[in-house]
Amino acid sequence: MPRRVGYNWGMSDERTYIHGFTEDERDRLSRQALSLEPYVFGHLDYSRCRHIIEVGCGVGAQMKILLRRWPRLKVTGIDREPSQIAAARRFMASEIAAGQALFLVGEGDSLPFPDDHFDGAFLCWMLEHVQDTHGIMAELRRVMRPGAVLYDTEVFNSGLHTDPPCPAMRSYWATFNAYQRRLGGDPDIGMKLKNLAMKVGFASATLHSVEAKLDRDVSKPSDRAAFLDYWHELLLTAAPHLLAEEGVSQTLIDEMGREFVSLREDFDSVFVYRLFQLRAVSP
Ligand SMILES: C[S@@+](CC[C@H](N)C(=O)[O-])C[C@H]1O[C@@H](n2cnc3c(N)ncnc32)[C@H](O)[C@@H]1O
Repeated sequence: MPRRVGYNWGMSDERTYIHGFTEDERDRLSRQALSLEPYVFGHLDYSRCRHIIEVGCGVGAQMKILLRRWPRLKVTGIDREPSQIAAARRFMASEIAAGQALFLVGEGDSLPFPDDHFDGAFLCWMLEHVQDTHGIMAELRRVMRPGAVLYDTEVFNSGLHTDPPCPAMRSYWATFNAYQRRLGGDPDIGMKLKNLAMKVGFASATLHSVEAKLDRDVSKPSDRAAFLDYWHELLLTAAPHLLAEEGVSQTLIDEMGREFVSLREDFDSVFVYRLFQLRAVSP
């Protein structure tokens, strides 16, 4: 079972962010990028790109993977949170020294670059936290040159289901998602990405869903544990706030923990989550 973590909800810009900006959370982002790499990177192709941008780059975990897969790329990462960018600069020190990575603190809806600057763009788990998704996408389109490709992978939290049903997890998840909406985010943004891309004028946009699934295909106990621990830890990122302000009880959280253990031990159980990935080309 993942450890309980301490959270610091104080943020340098006074805005809130559902996962918090602690060292534990930064560590989780790095592990998350690696464990979800097969889902996020399975359909991506930046082989024709030289300089791409990641908006909401966090600690640089995805940029590390981008540069491993496409070593000829240069990637510029931008994030509004200075402590994320500081961590990214430490994590990617050798790539920065090699001129492959550059990090800036900044807002996704006012990028400090001229028009047509990049020949590719990458977003991941970012628009779910944003109120003005249209502004971010329009700004991305502005800095992408004609023919540049954008891949954006985002959540679809309504697509989480289990068999047997897990009532505590379902109740906790409903509160988690309501909280994210109250912060101005959208836990189902994934399914809306194609409409959003078309609205801001991307020339061609395709959307596909990717399924993360646990069933009898995952038979090694350590694989089952790794899969479920990832989700359990993700859900717990919001626990301090949900406990303090959203009426979630420790009893519910403990019960959810027991449900995760049952899912792991019962080989007939199923856990499924659907995420969405957009590919769009700048006109
Ligand atoms: C869940 S993290 C994802 C980080 C990275 N893309 C990854 O997959 O590891 C979302 C990041 O987006 C950043 N962010 C949220 N809204 C932003 C905005 N309007 N402009 C720039 N960064 C933003 C947050 O500070 C956070 O670091």
